[in-house]
Order: sequence, then structure tokens, then C-alpha cells
Amino acid sequence: MTANQGLKLVNLDDSGVDCAFRADVLAGLQQEPKAIPARWFYDETGSRLFEEITALPEYYPTRAETEILTDRSADFAQLIGPGKAVVEFGSGSSVKTPLLLHAIDPAAYVPLDISGDFLRAAAADLSTSFPGLPIYPVEADFTREVTLPDQVRDIPKLGFFPGSTIGNMVARTAVDLLRSMRATLGEGSQLLIGMDLIKDIAVLEAAYDDAAGVTAQFNLNLVRRINRELDGTIPLDALRHVARWNDDFARIEMHLEATRPISFEVSGHSFSLEQGETIHTENSHKFDLRSANMLLLAGGWTPLERWTDREGRFSLILADATLRRNAP
Ligand code: AVI
Repeated sequence: MTANQGLKLVNLDDSGVDCAFRADVLAGLQQEPKAIPARWFYDETGSRLFEEITALPEYYPTRAETEILTDRSADFAQLIGPGKAVVEFGSGSSVKTPLLLHAIDPAAYVPLDISGDFLRAAAADLSTSFPGLPIYPVEADFTREVTLPDQVRDIPKLGFFPGSTIGNMVARTAVDLLRSMRATLGEGSQLLIGMDLIKDIAVLEAAYDDAAGVTAQFNLNLVRRINRELDGTIPLDALRHVARWNDDFARIEMHLEATRPISFEVSGHSFSLEQGETIHTENSHKFDLRSANMLLLAGGWTPLERWTDREGRFSLILADATLRRNAP
């Protein structure tokens, strides 16, 4: 079975614990160096904190991408054109999605998200602003191929993946995702994808370690979630938020660093951290023209056009899934 529809997306055990969350946390704390996947940041509090981050003075990506979507609407209208089924990977942003839809005049909008609640809320919001636009929300894990609704089967597709969320994946996972998107959208489709750019290290580190401490709270919220949902005893006061640039991999890494030696339990398993040892909680890869193109090509997408904001901080790239047989 290739599609996700009909599968149970979140698997809870008898005590209501998300089995995948527990498995990822236990495996991540057992490995050296310790690491927990960033997708577990986004419980209700984490999602609210992320919304706050997008409005911080230091966190430029959201404003920069919104600026491109505003400034380049004529280019999108010309290169993408009307009559597309826009398939958004993620439940959609209340600001960015309407800008794109206004620019290109699509035939349908299909938001895909693993969280049905976010999805229905976002779809309801949009239907008020675009009363004539057919909206077909699909609750699905879009890291796998998804079967799209029958109603859009014969309509040309534009995938939309803003926010540089692709940067939160290591290269192998990012390529797998791009290939799944291609399988979902089909031959001949287009993809409009946001990718954050390599820039001054101080600017990057400040964006992930803001003066108001919101990103630190976002990072520490993962520990609160582990303590609450997995019977954890991790002492929060012994962990500090760290955001640092890793030049070899062109990424900002977020870690939680122990300020003293600590021992704790999670789901009945014992763990310890030495002073200075970290739990790696997030990667946010940054790109240049070549690395962005290489990643897209590896995922089966041919870059067609690239736009940046006026300060050159962020890029939106339009690619297509047409097989070109003339390359060696
Ligand atoms: C969701 N993602 C693109 C954000 C980023 O910039 O990597 C998540 C984030 N982490 C800390 N601040 C924002």
C-alpha cells in the first residue's frame, strides 16, 4: 500500500502515550551523542511557541519569505499560471498561503497534514477568504506517497512547501521526502519550495537564540513534554539552550546542554548526562544556489527559477518534475 489514507496516523498505547514519541526518545537517549528528532517539538505549547518565534525581530525567515511571495506575485502568475491544484505539504500558513493563491488563481487547494485538527482549522480559515475555491484537506503523513483526492486527479499540480522545513532534515531524509512529493504529485508537476540561505554566522545564531528567550523555551518545552507524557524526571534547571553553527554541514544545531552532571528516568529507563554533554534536538540546514539545486535534483526535481528577498536572506525555488532524458 503506497498511500496513507485509511492508516492510523498516531498510535497510542493503553495509557494514551504516543508509541512513536516514546520509541524515538528512548532510542535517542540511548545513542551517543544523544539526539531526539525535532518533530517532537510541536505539541500544543511547542506550536504556539513556534508561532511566537516567527514574529521575533531576530527570526527573519518568515518575513523574508512573505516578502518574496508579495513582491513576486506577477512572476508566479506567469511561471505557474492559473488552473493548478495547489498541494500544500503542511497545514498552511494563514499569511503565506493566501498570498500564493491570490497570485496564481488555482483550480483547487489540497492541504496535507498529519494533524487533522490543524488541517481542518486551516481549511476553514481559507474557505472564508476564497469562497469559490474547492478545498480538499487530506489527513496524511506526507513523508510517504499520498493518494490525492479523485477530484484533482486530472488537474496539473503545484506542490507548495514553504518555511525551509526541508532544512530540518538531514540530506538523506530530505531526498526521500522530495521523492515522495514527486510520487504524490506526479510527472509534470511543479514544486515551489522555501530554502533558507547561508549567511553571516552571527545573524544565523541570533535567529535561533533570541534575546527574549522564546527559542530557548521552545527547545526546553521538549523536556517538559518528555517529563509530562513519558514519566520523565529530567531536571529542567540543569539544562541550557544552545544554538551553534556547524560549518561542515552548513547548519544551525540546537542542543540542550547539561550545566552539571545529572541522572534521570524516562518511561522507567535510567539515563545520565555529564556536565557539558548535550542532547541534540534540531538541525536547520542553510543552502546556497548550488547545494539547493543539488538537493532538488537528487530528489527528482529540476530547478526552473529562484527568487530571494531584497536582503538576499531566503530563497523560494520553483522546480518541475519533468524527466529530462538528454543528460548523461
Ligand atoms: C520549522 N523550521 C523551519 C524552523 C527553522 O527555522 O528551522 C524551526 C525553528 N527552530 C527554531 N526556530 C525555528
